[in-house]
Amino acid sequence: MSTALLELDAVDAGYGPFRALFGVSLAIEPGGVVALLGANGAGTTTVARVASGLVAPTAGAVRFDGVDLTGRHTYEFARAGIVHAVEGRSVFASLTVQENLTMALERGRDRRALEAAHEEAYDLFPRLGERRRQVAGTLSGGEQRMLALARVMVERPRLLVADELSLGLAPIIVEEVYATLATIRDAGTTLLIVEQHIGHALALADTATILEKGVVTYAGPAAEARAHIGI
Ligand SMILES: Nc1ncnc2c1ncn2[C@@H]1O[C@H](COP(=O)(O)OP(=O)(O)OP(=O)(O)O)[C@@H](O)[C@H]1O
Ligand SMILES: [Mg+2]
Repeated sequence: MSTALLELDAVDAGYGPFRALFGVSLAIEPGGVVALLGANGAGTTTVARVASGLVAPTAGAVRFDGVDLTGRHTYEFARAGIVHAVEGRSVFASLTVQENLTMALERGRDRRALEAAHEEAYDLFPRLGERRRQVAGTLSGGEQRMLALARVMVERPRLLVADELSLGLAPIIVEEVYATLATIRDAGTTLLIVEQHIGHALALADTATILEKGVVTYAGPAAEARAHIGI
C-alpha cells in the first residue's frame, strides 16, 4: 500500500488529439515537497492540471489520500483539499484585499476565526495589512502574488499545486514567495511546485521529478536532481 498523499500512476494526458504526457508517475508523501521541473513545453503545467483535476488522464490513475479520483470533477479534487495556484489569475481583482481573504475562508468560520486568520496573513505580509481596503486589481504584480499566497495560507489546503508562482517577479519577491511556501509547508500543507527557478524549488523540495517531452526522466532526491538536469 502506498503511503503517498497524491499519486499519479502511469498517467497519459493531452488536449484533443495532442498527447502531452506519456506514462507519468509521481508520488508525494504527506507533508512533503516535490519540485516538478522541465524545459518549456515539457508538460509540467499539464501534470499540475492532472493533479488538481483540471485535466483528466486518458490512461493511468490519480489517487489522493488513497481515493481514486481519476476522471472525477474538478470540484471533487477541490473538496478533497487540493488548491491549484497559478501565476496571475489567483485573486479577485474587483474585491479588496480583505474581501479576497474572507472569500478564501467563508465556509463555516465564525467571525473570530475569520479575524484571527486575517491577522495571521497580515503578520506575515504587513504590506497587505496596510492595503487591506485596496482593490486587489490595483495592487502591484508582486503584491497580488502575495495576496494569492495569503489566501492559500489561510485556507490551509491539504495539497497546494503551485505552477510557476514566481514567474516574472523581482528576485526579492521570489525570496518572499519561497519563504511563504515554506510557512505553508510548516503549517502542514503538502506541496507540488512547478518552477523555472530551479535553485529555489530544489532548496525547498525533498524530492524532484524531471519531465522531458512528457516523459519522466528523473525522480529522486532533490539534492541529486541537478546532475540530471540538461536544461
Ligand atoms: N490547452 C491546450 N491545448 C492544446 N495544447 C496544449 C494546451 N496546453 C498545453 N498544450 C501543449 O501541451 C504541451 C505541454 O504543455 P504544458 O503547458 O504542460 O508545458 P509546460 O511544461 O508547462 O511548459 P512551460 O514551461 O512553457 O509552462 C505543449 O506542447 C503545449 O503546446
Ligand atoms: Mg507551464
